[in-house]
Amino acid sequence: MFSTRKSLIAALALSFTVLASSSLALAQDKTPTPEERAYKFRTSLFQTFGFKFGRLIAAKAQDDAAMFTKQASDLQFLTTMIEEGFEIENSLPEGTEAKPNIWEDFDEFKAKSDTLRTAVAGLTEEGAMASFDPRDFGSKNCGGCHREFRINKE
Ligand code: HEC
Repeated sequence: MFSTRKSLIAALALSFTVLASSSLALAQDKTPTPEERAYKFRTSLFQTFGFKFGRLIAAKAQDDAAMFTKQASDLQFLTTMIEEGFEIENSLPEGTEAKPNIWEDFDEFKAKSDTLRTAVAGLTEEGAMASFDPRDFGSKNCGGCHREFRINKE
């Protein structure tokens, strides 16, 4: 009885192993590589930046200070994640607009992220909406990094 159970368990364990490895082989065709996942993450993050930036501009147009502060705080939280999308050195899968110099001068890349973080933190302060100029803000704090570290495909 005991040995039958034991061999049953062994047989079950074996079939699970076979199943697991065959489904892994199947999944490997579709599963994105770590580089592709990082690329997806950071482009989604940047698209969310774009969306939130649009909401910030809309809040100012509607003179809605509470909404402005809410959008600025969301953006502030999102900007803590920039470097996470670039942790894998030279993660440059097909389609990326990231330049290789990001990893050659990561300190500078980090400095550009800090510039944006500081500027966005400023937007969460009371009364910041009044002096917010979208063009100026975007050119300095988003464009400042793009000009150096993003391929301009236009
Ligand atoms: C520290 C550098 C840096 C800062 C700051 C930055 N970006 Fe980017 N951004 C990049 C890089 C690098 C890419 C290209 C990523 C890729 O394709 O792998 C990018 C790509 C994008 C994209 C394209 C995403 C896609 O779908 O391919 C948008 C939109 C974008 N950024 C918006 C913004 C906005 C809005 C801001 C400011 C609020 C901003 N970015 C600030 C570095 C930065």
